[in-house]
Amino acid sequence: MTAAIDAQGLRKVYRGRRRRPGTVAVDSLDLRVEPGEVFGFLGRNGAGKTTAVMMLLGCVAPTAGDATVFGEPIGAPASRSRVGFLPEKFRFHEFLTARELLMFHGRLAGMSREACAARIPDVLDLVGLGDAIDKQVREFSKGMQQRVGLGQALIADPDLLVLDEPTSALDPLGRRDVRDVLLRLKAEGKTVFLNSHLLSEVELCCDRVAILDHGRVLRQGPIDELLHSIMRVDIRADGLTASLVEALGTRGSVETWDEGAGTLRIGVADPDVIPGLTRALVDGGADVHSIVPHRESLEEFFVRVVQDGDL
Ligand SMILES: Nc1ncnc2c1ncn2[C@@H]1O[C@H](COP(=O)(O)OP(=O)(O)OP(=O)(O)O)[C@@H](O)[C@H]1O
Ligand SMILES: [Mg+2]
Repeated sequence: MTAAIDAQGLRKVYRGRRRRPGTVAVDSLDLRVEPGEVFGFLGRNGAGKTTAVMMLLGCVAPTAGDATVFGEPIGAPASRSRVGFLPEKFRFHEFLTARELLMFHGRLAGMSREACAARIPDVLDLVGLGDAIDKQVREFSKGMQQRVGLGQALIADPDLLVLDEPTSALDPLGRRDVRDVLLRLKAEGKTVFLNSHLLSEVELCCDRVAILDHGRVLRQGPIDELLHSIMRVDIRADGLTASLVEALGTRGSVETWDEGAGTLRIGVADPDVIPGLTRALVDGGADVHSIVPHRESLEEFFVRVVQDGDL
């Protein structure tokens, strides 16, 4: 199957000015995004995410390497016409209303006036701006501007949606709305490429992720395969005595213990230790209220890979 995005050795060096050295923004990017998946592109500030996206869209010329979007060379009209894009830094014409802005972008994307007019109310409803359709952009709050930006990216019904931090200005409800939109697009078979620092959201909506650092992919793969399946167990019980906690410590590592509150957190490497842990608790005389295993979060994984260099 033709990949939605296929990049090999993509590199960008921004030239230095007045004897200042250049910046290697993207070193050598190898990336493959399949059609129909929601792909999270992660990395700390300055890792090269936006530069990579700009190259994939043909807005920044690569220094080296090749990439295709749906099999077409990046930057070619045939690849661009299938992409909707919400940039990280956007500014729309403030004198336009939401309806006019979407008409403008729909027309730029080659849609007829009639097709735009018919689709605009649905798109603005989808991004939660149904009531603001005839409001000018200058009257919009930051979050409303980001929502209209998402509407702009969706107006031409793209097969690939590229979003560079689409929820940075949104309140928690707005973030959930965007997540719902992304999952809905996925259900329709669309592909989503998402740059984001909000890892809890990425964890909820992405199938696969790549972590970029210093312009190179450190790790990529399905979230379920990347994260450690079980990291720790939270226990709440009466009768967690020092000798019992010490005995439990042989089955994992005691991370926290609050005798008064009756809580204990044990780091474990293998979910198979949980039945034995439970038995030892009961046999040791504890009255157990709860035993909750936790998987590693995407944030913990990110820190492990980027900060601790655990590859
Ligand atoms: N137009 C430019 N000219 C020169 N250097 C640039 C330019 N744009 C980005 N850079 C540099 O390239 C590197 C990567 O920047 P980029 O914006 O791609 O990072 P990012 O991963 O998107 O970061 P953030 O999470 O902060 O958005 C940085 O060192 C940045 O200073
Ligand atoms: Mg960026």
